[in-house]
Amino acid sequence: PMTETITTIEEWRRVARRLRREGRSLGFVPTMGALHRGHAALLERSKAENDVTVASVFVNPAQFDDAGDLDAYPRTLEEDRALLANLRVDHLFAPDRGAIYPDDYRFRVTERELSTVMEGAHRPGHFDGVLTVVLRLLGIIRPTRAYFGEKDYQQYLLVRDLAAAFFLETEIVPCPTVREPDGLALSSRNVRLSAEARALGGRFARRLAGPGPAAQVQRDLEAMGVDVQYVEERFGRRFAAVVIGGVRLIDNVAID
Ligand code: PAF
Repeated sequence: PMTETITTIEEWRRVARRLRREGRSLGFVPTMGALHRGHAALLERSKAENDVTVASVFVNPAQFDDAGDLDAYPRTLEEDRALLANLRVDHLFAPDRGAIYPDDYRFRVTERELSTVMEGAHRPGHFDGVLTVVLRLLGIIRPTRAYFGEKDYQQYLLVRDLAAAFFLETEIVPCPTVREPDGLALSSRNVRLSAEARALGGRFARRLAGPGPAAQVQRDLEAMGVDVQYVEERFGRRFAAVVIGGVRLIDNVAID
């Protein structure tokens, strides 16, 4: 069966009302498209844990602090639809900007602690944009469970806390990062890496997961020619953001 594409909130509400009437659980995987095996892992998990699964594809302008990054963000809706159909995902919600932001982003969610460090410190307004779109999407979709990749671990923590702070009934489920054989975390931005930058990306991931204090990891990365924005340890994990071949990459690993 084909994945059904829904673009309006009204249309989704009709589907959601029917699911609730039938007492079916609903899993939700929010994405910005350019789907890869990391997204596929979230979708598989949702399918295993829920009666029905819906994915969203919405490239959220509010979370891009850099207009160039927004323009360069890969848009592959036809391939995305094929991947969703292959995985037998029930519904695709693909709204336009006006559907999500009828108020033109007049109302937004601001978090004042965790969103100010690491990604928040380097990307002003980024987490306001993420939290605002996630709150809106959860308000529209009203899923039983929503799935977030640990590659964006700071985002996962903020979304988990958002759901608690606003008494949302959705369970926020974190899922392990999916990696290439050489260690590079899957990301929609990886397609923008040259062959040379792609190889350095693998070395970055392996060094991040290796031994030593954060400062040593940072020095070793810099010695490889990696442009490091931060290496920081929090919550029993080591986080990093780097720029390789003009592409900004983030990653994090559990440390013991
Ligand atoms: O992780 C992402 O792809 C995005 O930040 C999300 C959660 C879909 C919100 O736009």
